[in-house]
Amino acid sequence: MASFDYIPLLAPGLPPPVARWNGFAQYNFIGGHNDPAHVPVAGLVKAMTDVLNREGSNLATYGLASGPLGYRPLREFLAKKLNRTAGIVCDADEILITSGSLQALDLVNGILVAPGDTVIVEQETYQGTLVRLARAGARVVGVPLDRDGMRMDALAATLDDLKRRNVRPKFIYTIPTVQNPTSTILSEARRLEMLRLAEQHGVPIIEDDCYADLIWDGRRPPAIYALSQHGGVIHLGSFSKSIAPALRVGYIVAGWDALSRMLSLKADAGSGALEQMTLGEYCPAHFDEHVPQLRKGLRAKLETLMDALNEQFGTAAEFDDPKGGIFLWVKLPDAVDTMKLFQPALAAGIAINPGVEWATDKERGKSRMRLCFANPSHEAIRAGVAALAEVCRREFGVPDRIANVEQQARA
Ligand SMILES: Cc1ncc(COP(=O)(O)O)c(C=O)c1O
Repeated sequence: MASFDYIPLLAPGLPPPVARWNGFAQYNFIGGHNDPAHVPVAGLVKAMTDVLNREGSNLATYGLASGPLGYRPLREFLAKKLNRTAGIVCDADEILITSGSLQALDLVNGILVAPGDTVIVEQETYQGTLVRLARAGARVVGVPLDRDGMRMDALAATLDDLKRRNVRPKFIYTIPTVQNPTSTILSEARRLEMLRLAEQHGVPIIEDDCYADLIWDGRRPPAIYALSQHGGVIHLGSFSKSIAPALRVGYIVAGWDALSRMLSLKADAGSGALEQMTLGEYCPAHFDEHVPQLRKGLRAKLETLMDALNEQFGTAAEFDDPKGGIFLWVKLPDAVDTMKLFQPALAAGIAINPGVEWATDKERGKSRMRLCFANPSHEAIRAGVAALAEVCRREFGVPDRIANVEQQARA
């Protein structure tokens, strides 16, 4: 078909066009996909059938007779679940269901961020957030992490420094519970210190908690939202990591002061009803039995990945053993630029996330990569890591031993 020339008509400031999708790579270590074996298909089918048979006629109304905050039984489940697991005391009317937590991030940015504003983030953080903040014209300041998450001494110094320059940041964005990409968990003491600093400087905290259900031993610190005495925290969550990302169901927990503003921006007449109804039916009876099985499957895959990296890369790949989640954040030798590894790896069928895209300090991200281990099978993890080691050695000369065989001798 002949194509119409939209270019002279396009609105200014659009992001570049996306490339066409050509399918997943054979060895797919990118994105935040979940484990196909642990999507609770039978339970979702039953839940959807039951709820549609019972309440399907409510589809006749926008908002399912539950109002603009989303399907009420799902919000009621969340209020109970967040209380039990994260210590959050809220009722269903303090929860807004969104189309994934990405929409939640858009709404937060929408009400708070204008071009030129400053936002504080972890120095290594979620690319989806960095991209959004860049598009909103925000100035992003990264605070270093250590093994216990964001460093509070560094946050205090950052806030003091901004104050000296008369800059009041719009918010502190944090992924405190199984951080993306480092998988660190912010300790309770640090959560309290973050709240103290935030209050002292009059800065709200955006707590992005979408991996909190995926801690191997099931024990998590209370949410920052739960520990707050003075408000000023917006809590974001998602079913993407605990059930399935394609459902596109996330949520925001906040006071009405913030929720009412975000609702006025959420001009989509409600997020998809079938997925909300299905989750609202499935979760009260099954969430608690489903999640430990998922965690077990993910932990097993992580072990396969760490074994494969140790075998194929030896000491050239450094990483901590994460306490949960779906990602391994890997440091390769300084000589390796993972952005330059990305293309040849893809050509060999291996998709990796280069570290620079997950870092505010590009130099720090340069020789790091993020590997998602949830989606590939155990066999694909082993074969993919072996293939990646070959490409890395070809391009950068490391690792010089693969599977403990000296590479010169092999050639
Ligand atoms: C930290 C973080 N926040 C938000 C999201 C978005 O998730 P979703 O929109 O699927 O809920 C992701 C996805 O990977 C993430 O890692």
